[in-house]
Amino acid sequence: MIKYFKPSIFVLSTIPFLIISYKIIFNKLGPEPVKEITHFTGEWTLIFICLTLAMSPLKKLTNLNFWVRVRRMLGLFVFFYASLHLLTYVGIDYRFSWQPIFDDVVKKKYIFVGFAAWLLLIPLTLTSSQKMMLLLKQNWKKLHRLIYVIAILGSLHFVWLSKTIYFKPLIYFVIITFLLFLRINFKRIFNK
Ligand code: HEM
Repeated sequence: MIKYFKPSIFVLSTIPFLIISYKIIFNKLGPEPVKEITHFTGEWTLIFICLTLAMSPLKKLTNLNFWVRVRRMLGLFVFFYASLHLLTYVGIDYRFSWQPIFDDVVKKKYIFVGFAAWLLLIPLTLTSSQKMMLLLKQNWKKLHRLIYVIAILGSLHFVWLSKTIYFKPLIYFVIITFLLFLRINFKRIFNK
């Protein structure tokens, strides 16, 4: 049973990609196709961030190790969906016109934090392998704490880009804050 856990999570994680590909191929994106792809990929990036952050608390809660076995894979899906999201914006929305993209990054704070989050995902993706884990030793753990910063930047990006409807972004913000709160090592803080 455990044997099928990781492959099943992999297959499930590709479903959002299959859904958006289907919508693109069969012209089912609605009246604002670029917006639809941006929103879909952006939201799934945030969902995968939440799932990645939830694995350690689930391990503690259930005393089962298999949750952390899929954490790395879920983290790679964060990068995958974030890159699709960025590519939609850079390639489809702006057709690779670098000057207006650059202007957006420096002038719009929600683009700035989104872009910063994506940049921070690069070192995590490059060092995600077992080999890099062994090579970087203690520094690997420190480096991979960047996922907390990425999670905060990602949820801020969503709050700042939503001009009127705050409900959904705030839900993610609360979930992420709660998941980060669970990671605080109170024993270490209070024993000092
Ligand atoms: C970890 C990185 C990121 C996360 C978690 C993220 C998440 C999101 C989310 C949740 C949305 C809104 C989806 C909805 O309305 O349902 C969104 C929209 C958007 N994101 Fe991102 N994003 C990230 C990175 C980026 C980057 C790098 C860019 C571009 C440089 C970007 C540009 C946009 C734009 C243009 C929108 C649509 C804004 C609008 O509605 O007008 N995002 N993103």
